[in-house]
Amino acid sequence: MDYQITFAGPDDEEVLQAVLIETDMGIAGDITEHAVIKKDNEILGGGMLAQTGTNRYHLLVFAVRQGDRGLGIGRILLNELIKQPWKYCLNGEGSTAGDYKITTVAKGESAKFYEKNGFAVCDFSQLDYPFDQQCDDCPDRSNCNPAAMMFMGCKTNDC
Ligand SMILES: CC(C)(COP(=O)(O)OP(=O)(O)OC[C@H]1O[C@@H](n2cnc3c(N)ncnc32)[C@H](O)[C@@H]1OP(=O)(O)O)[C@@H](O)C(=O)NCCC(=O)NCCS
Repeated sequence: MDYQITFAGPDDEEVLQAVLIETDMGIAGDITEHAVIKKDNEILGGGMLAQTGTNRYHLLVFAVRQGDRGLGIGRILLNELIKQPWKYCLNGEGSTAGDYKITTVAKGESAKFYEKNGFAVCDFSQLDYPFDQQCDDCPDRSNCNPAAMMFMGCKTNDC
């Protein structure tokens, strides 16, 4: 399959917002800070990574279009983002050497998707501020069953 993974452009906002709204998410910053996966110029999914410190990143939103789930598209996009998170942080400080950490909050069953892609469940206290508190006052917390997740990556093969 021929997929393109790029930063979203201003014209992509409406479509990406529709994909995210399907699961009660939404555009998390400026549209141009989101990465999207496209096939034949059509958006199939997207997400937004933010840098929270040196070698530290947080995935704020991530979703694949409802009719395209279960086809490996989420895995392709997530693996591209976690392989080089500095490349997909529009306002990040760029690449540095050594270990890096990516966190996210998975909703319900999606924790299994992250586990299959190298993330492990962690404590909310291991997320950087303000993401460590993002579910604290949410009235939907028991339905959503959120799980804090962490991925540890390494920029070179020898560390
Ligand atoms: C979670 C999501 C991004 C996964 O994308 P996808 O394209 O459907 O996932 P893939 O087809 O790449 O699946 C990769 C693997 O994860 C597994 N997986 C995906 N979603 C899963 C789920 N909800 N529960 C359990 N396993 C799941 C797949 O079975 C597959 O396993 P395999 O490698 O053994 O075949 C997508 O289902 C989605 O957008 N869900 C709604 C939004 C959401 O929950 N986002 C997560 C952040 S809150």
